[in-house]
Amino acid sequence: MEPFACLLAVVLALLRAGAALDGDAGAGAGGQTRYARVFSFGDSLTDTGNALRVTAGGPASRPPYGETFFRRPTGRASDGRLAVDFIVEALGLPHPTPYLSGKTPADFRRGVNFAVGGASALGLEFFESRGLKTFVPVSLGNQTSWFKTVLQSLGPVSTGQSTATSLFVVGEIGINDYFIALVGNRTVGEAKTFVPHIIGAIRSVVTEVITAGATTVVVPGMIPLGCEPQLLALYQGAVAGGGYDPVSGCITQLNGLAELHNRGLRRMLAGLRRRHPGAAIVYADLYRAVTDIIVSPRKYGFRDRPLAACCGGGGGAYNFDITAFCGAAGAMACADPSEHVSWDGVHFTEAANRRIACAALEGSHAGGVDDDGAPPTPSSSSWSTEAGRRRIGCV
Ligand SMILES: *[C@@H]1O[C@H](CO)[C@@H](O)[C@H](O)[C@H]1NC(C)=O
Ligand SMILES: *[C@@H]1O[C@H](CO)[C@@H](O)[C@H](O)[C@H]1NC(C)=O
Repeated sequence: MEPFACLLAVVLALLRAGAALDGDAGAGAGGQTRYARVFSFGDSLTDTGNALRVTAGGPASRPPYGETFFRRPTGRASDGRLAVDFIVEALGLPHPTPYLSGKTPADFRRGVNFAVGGASALGLEFFESRGLKTFVPVSLGNQTSWFKTVLQSLGPVSTGQSTATSLFVVGEIGINDYFIALVGNRTVGEAKTFVPHIIGAIRSVVTEVITAGATTVVVPGMIPLGCEPQLLALYQGAVAGGGYDPVSGCITQLNGLAELHNRGLRRMLAGLRRRHPGAAIVYADLYRAVTDIIVSPRKYGFRDRPLAACCGGGGGAYNFDITAFCGAAGAMACADPSEHVSWDGVHFTEAANRRIACAALEGSHAGGVDDDGAPPTPSSSSWSTEAGRRRIGCV
C-alpha cells in the first residue's frame, strides 16, 4: 500500500482508539444511588456517538460494530457496550448524552459524554510544533470548554448542585497522543517526553471539574499499549528478540511507556488529593485490568491467544491488517466476540469492557496518601457497591 494510504488507514483505525472509562460510582445503602448523572471525558474507549458527528463515517459507523448489544452501529468502537456504559448501569444511572447529539439543556440534565474517538489530551499546537498531525481536531481543551458551555446552559442556581451530585469520569485519555507520535515514526523515547504534558492536561480538567463543584472524580489510567494487536502488528519484526514480555507476549517498551504514564498520573492525583481533601479522586487501574486478562484469559472466560483481534483481517498471531480493518468490506468478525479481548485490534470487546468496568468500580481512593507505585487499595468510599457490581455481572 502507498505510504499515504497506509497512514490514512492507520488514522482511520486510530479514530476509534479510545477509551474506556470507567468509573463508577455507587449506590449507597438500600441500593439508592449517590449520583444523579455522569459527565465523562475521553477518546474512543469512551465515545458513545460524538466522533460520528465530527468526522462522519469511520469504521464504528458500520456493521459489525454494535452487533452484540445494540444490534446496530452506534458510534461505539466495540461490538457492544463500553466500560462507561457498564459503569452507568452499575450505578443505575441514565446513559449520558453524547455532547454533540444534545440539543437542549434538557438533553444534558441526564449527564453528558464529551469523549470523542481520536481525541488527544494535548492541543493541535503541541503536535504541529513537532511536525505531527492529530487524528481529529478535538483535545481535552475542547471537551473542557464544552463542559463549561453545558454548565452555563444548566443555569447558575442549579450548577453547583448538579456538579456535586454528578460522577465525573476523566479518561482514559492520552492513547492518541502516543499513537500520533508512534505512527508518525517517532521513537518510543520521544513519545515518553509527552508524558508530563499529557498528565498536566489531565490535571487541568480534574482541577476544572473540582472547581465547578465535583465531589467524585474517577480517573482511569493508560491501558497496556504493548498488548494492542494493532501496535503488535505494526512493530512485527522490528522489535528485537528480548522486546516481548515472555508471559504476556506484549511489547515491553510500549508497556513501559504506559507504566510511565500511569506513575505520573498517580503521583499527580496524589497531589490533587492533598490539595482538595473534600473531593474523592479515584484512580482506575485499566493497565492491571487488561494485563490480568491477557496473562490469565481462561480465568476470566476468554480463550487462549488473547492478543488476536476478533474483527478484521490478516490472520496470524494478531489477526490485524490495517487494509482490512473491522467494518471495511471483506473484513469479518469472529463467531463469538465474548471469547476475545480485542474487538478490532485497537478497541476492546464488550466482554473485555465489562471486566474493565468491574476493575474500575473497585478503583482505589487513597485520600491524601501518595500511592505512587503502590497497588490499588480497596475502595473505602461508598462510590461503588457490591450490588452495583453484581448488576453488571462482576461478582
Ligand atoms: C477544538 O479547539 C480548537 C482550538 O480552539 C479549534 O480549532 C477546533 O475547531 C475545536 N474543535 C471542535 C470540534 O470544535
Ligand atoms: C515511516 O517510516 C517508514 C520506513 O522508513 C516509511 O516507509 C513511512 O513512510 C514513514 N511514515 C511516516 C508517516 O513518516
